[in-house]
Amino acid sequence: MVEVPEYLLERSRQRRAELTGADPGDGAATADTPSAAAVPTAAAAPAPVAPAPIAAAAPPPPPEPDPPYVQAARARKRMPYWAASVMVFLPIWAIFYVGMLEPPDSDELVLADNGAAVYSTCASCHGADGSGTATGRQLSDGELLLTFGSAPGFDGLAHHLSWVYLGTADTRRLGLDFYGNPDRPGGQREVDSFASGMSGFSNLSLEDLVSVVYYERVVHGGLDAETAAHEEEMLLALVADAPTFETGSPDEISALLTESAEGHGIDLAAGE
Ligand code: HEC
Repeated sequence: MVEVPEYLLERSRQRRAELTGADPGDGAATADTPSAAAVPTAAAAPAPVAPAPIAAAAPPPPPEPDPPYVQAARARKRMPYWAASVMVFLPIWAIFYVGMLEPPDSDELVLADNGAAVYSTCASCHGADGSGTATGRQLSDGELLLTFGSAPGFDGLAHHLSWVYLGTADTRRLGLDFYGNPDRPGGQREVDSFASGMSGFSNLSLEDLVSVVYYERVVHGGLDAETAAHEEEMLLALVADAPTFETGSPDEISALLTESAEGHGIDLAAGE
């Protein structure tokens, strides 16, 4: 620290003495309380020994400037706090976005995936997990396959497709009072025996119809892997042939399934 020249200290003491009326020679001048005699005493003070400008120019040394890299860091624009949470999800979003950009492979119909999407129209009545609601029957816990499982002499797959295609009213219109496996434990299902019935889904494309049926059989029905693979083959062969249904009756759909399977060299006995 640079020593303050003695003449400046002296000058400072005298300035204070002028203002407070204290004896400039007294080192404790600042502690003195101002008195009424201040002004006359000040007038008698000796003249300053140094020019005023120099005395006034004794400011504290300016603070050391920050190094340039610190200044740069301070000046840099900052990310707002809310943006941090956006940044966290950005990679996840990027993955989804890229996935969406990929053109769907129109040659490849993934029945389970497509069926999951179509099933959203069924979930309001049958429940997302197929456990049923007040307006739709339970499909899970083996219920679906009791009704539409394939037993010798009963084409459960075709009957399932037909039921979803026709629903309560159109099944009745074909003159059928019952649906599903006639040997069902607890008795064959009677048409219109639950809540206010089910509308048919003949408006679905063939792809969507087979997809939602396959989805129900695998996800809610818990079809074993071997049977599921066989049924998937049968359904994809049907889609490839794109037949139009005359009535959508179980017998008609069963015949179409058999025809497609034979045309595509699928072993009908497999998976049974
Ligand atoms: C408005 C409510 C409702 C909707 C939506 C609905 N269902 Fe149903 N579903 C029912 C009712 C009610 C029954 C019983 C019908 C009857 O007794 O006539 C039923 C029966 C079924 C059955 C037979 C279950 C059994 O063991 O008897 C299947 C399979 C089925 N529905 C599949 C579907 C599919 C697939 C969809 C969507 C594409 C769908 N349902 C949409 C109400 C609904």
